[in-house]
Amino acid sequence: MSHLPAPIAVSAGLRDGTRLFFHAITPDDRACIAQGFERLSAASRLSRFLRPMARLDAATLDYLSAVDGDRHLAVGASSSSDERVGLARCVRLEREPDTAEIAVTILDAWQRRGVAPVLVTQLARWADAVAIRKFRALFGYENRAVSRLLAGNGIAFAPDGSGMAQADIEISAILKAAAPASA
Ligand SMILES: CC(C)(COP(=O)(O)OP(=O)(O)OC[C@H]1O[C@@H](n2cnc3c(N)ncnc32)[C@H](O)[C@@H]1OP(=O)(O)O)[C@@H](O)C(=O)NCCC(=O)NCCS
Repeated sequence: MSHLPAPIAVSAGLRDGTRLFFHAITPDDRACIAQGFERLSAASRLSRFLRPMARLDAATLDYLSAVDGDRHLAVGASSSSDERVGLARCVRLEREPDTAEIAVTILDAWQRRGVAPVLVTQLARWADAVAIRKFRALFGYENRAVSRLLAGNGIAFAPDGSGMAQADIEISAILKAAAPASA
């Protein structure tokens, strides 16, 4: 899986015109994933991993790097100056193979600029090509950014009583709402 999978666009623009470039994450990106984690604020780490994370331990880094292009997909976004901006990944559920749990992390300096939807669209294109039909998002109910993203797209979610919430997002709906892939 050394090439960009065909469905992923090479680049896309943010609403302020900033151009981002996409790449398929591979196990070779292990060091990059570790570096990205080091740049994340404590609050973003907590939102992403749902527990305080001072360090990314080796087992978690192994898991995050084990991208195989079918069970586990991950797309990275970089700026035109090759700064890493964020990462969206999904992992197919064993018991529901047409559904994959999604996680998105945007570096703090790039948050609130509309990066997540653009990146998730690229992941959705790839997911669609390998017969993943739904993303499942599990997140802290207090996560305002995720709540706003989902609500803004008319996606329902509800608290589960333990501070978490869950939402299922149809890949077809993401692709329908997205602009056509650009080179
Ligand atoms: C959640 C996350 C991926 C959103 O990415 P993003 O690129 O910043 O998302 P957007 O810029 O599209 O913002 C989405 C909405 O949330 C709002 N928002 C973003 N950050 C916010 C914050 N900290 N507090 C309140 N609202 C916020 C934005 O204003 C926007 O709302 P709008 O569409 O009504 O204007 C990003 O904040 C992140 O990486 N957080 C840390 C990790 C995490 O929580 N991951 C999700 C669980 S796996």
